[in-house]
Amino acid sequence: MAVTFRLRPVHGLALMLIIGPLVKLAAPYLRSGPKPVTPAAVAAGRELFLREWTAKDTLTKGDGLGPVYNAKSCVECHQQGGPGGGGPVSKNVTVYGLVNPHPKRIAQSGVVHQKAVRPEFQETLRLIHPSLPNDPFIPLDELTNRSRRRSPDVVVTQRNTPALFGDGLIDAVPDETLLAHQREHSTAARLVGLSGARDGKTRGRIARLADGRIGRFGWKAEFASLSDFVKAACANELGLSNPGRPQATPLGKLNYKAEGEDLTDAQCVLITDFIRALPVPGQILPGDRKEAALVKAGQERFAAIGCADCHSQQLGPVAGIYSDMLLHDMGVELESSTGYYGSIIPQPAIQNDRFASSEQPTPAEWRTAPLWGVADSGPYLHDGRAKTLREAIELHGGEARDVTAKFLAASPLDQDAILAFLKSLRAPSGESVAVR
Ligand code: HEC
Ligand code: HEC
Repeated sequence: MAVTFRLRPVHGLALMLIIGPLVKLAAPYLRSGPKPVTPAAVAAGRELFLREWTAKDTLTKGDGLGPVYNAKSCVECHQQGGPGGGGPVSKNVTVYGLVNPHPKRIAQSGVVHQKAVRPEFQETLRLIHPSLPNDPFIPLDELTNRSRRRSPDVVVTQRNTPALFGDGLIDAVPDETLLAHQREHSTAARLVGLSGARDGKTRGRIARLADGRIGRFGWKAEFASLSDFVKAACANELGLSNPGRPQATPLGKLNYKAEGEDLTDAQCVLITDFIRALPVPGQILPGDRKEAALVKAGQERFAAIGCADCHSQQLGPVAGIYSDMLLHDMGVELESSTGYYGSIIPQPAIQNDRFASSEQPTPAEWRTAPLWGVADSGPYLHDGRAKTLREAIELHGGEARDVTAKFLAASPLDQDAILAFLKSLRAPSGESVAVR
């Protein structure tokens, strides 16, 4: 016998009474949560991420690659452990900052591009300041040599390519989580002074951007969302202008004008979708029981001596990230310029226009690098100056000074255990890609 159920008006009313409040409760989550990404979008985004762009590229509506650029594809830099990974020092990005406004109206800080589609567009550091070489970059070991004297009017630094695995989760961390981490640190910090004091005590602050949002991407946490960073990367690295960002104008050809915009917003969204869908790094325990025990012991020491004060295992809903996503003063050891990623409007002192003027990051402040996947993302630190994990730890100064001293005072076995723990934090074993 067939049972039929007819929806009478009274049932409809009951349903509305039940579902109505549920929808209301869920509304904020429905609104703020990331949109589900379709496999087709991810595949299309992957193609754009791997594509070797050319001048006047047929996939663009503008001048294509360039006029100035750092690489021909995203994956040329983001490649270790598969597309989306970190990059070697040879792919570092050179950034500059000028103390005085430039007579030729060159932006006060920005990127010096390593390549150009035509020789007359090629950028060099000399175009920024007469004291600098007629090359697009200064080798990293020369740059990080603090005994070298330089003009006080200009700063040149480099940025190493970070891995993008797990960036989708970072994008979705609620602001409240970051604020809570700041509060945790600041109770102690208020007693000894604000961020920037060099007393070896851990504190940290959120990166408050000029538009009021909280920064979470980039070594200085200067971009609030993954999609903002992707648009900046298209424009800065590849010279692909888009609705979120104009492409860079050659430093020596400030009157360069291109017809049309290279990428549509939809193309940028696809690239962002691809990054969001990248696998998340995790811990891989060694098969050998003794080695696995060493990793476990290292993880405990890591927390016990205070590494986890900044490299927090849990960030709100995200487990295993080993970062609080806050800016920390890392001391003269890791000082760089305030020169940053992107070009800015000229102002009287070197200011990073992405941050509110009262919130400017100091040259020594950096976002706690997430340590997930760290075993496969060398070299380390913002400019890749540390070739090994041990070197990276030894270079921690400022707020991390006391913790670093504890690491150095620990027994060789404890030190090895901490390093073994870091080496268990692996990039997701994705596909690998051949890059020239
Ligand atoms: C020349 C090398 C290079 C190329 C090419 C490149 N990147 Fe990057 N990428 C970097 C560097 C260096 C940083 C760090 C910049 C900073 O913090 O100042 C970075 C950072 C990022 C970040 C922020 C990661 C985080 O967790 O903070 C994203 C997202 C990103 N890149 C996406 C892209 C996309 C998309 C492309 C292609 C359109 C691209 N990149 C091309 C070098 C590169
Ligand atoms: C006061 C906060 C703080 C403490 C404490 C701290 N770190 Fe860090 N760590 C950072 C910041 C900030 C960076 C990024 C610095 C830079 O790029 O110049 C970093 C970077 C790193 C890196 C390099 C990651 C990469 O991708 O390049 C490693 C490895 C690391 N820390 C391990 C440790 C270990 C192990 C300890 C404990 C002995 C520790 N840290 C203690 C803040 C801290």
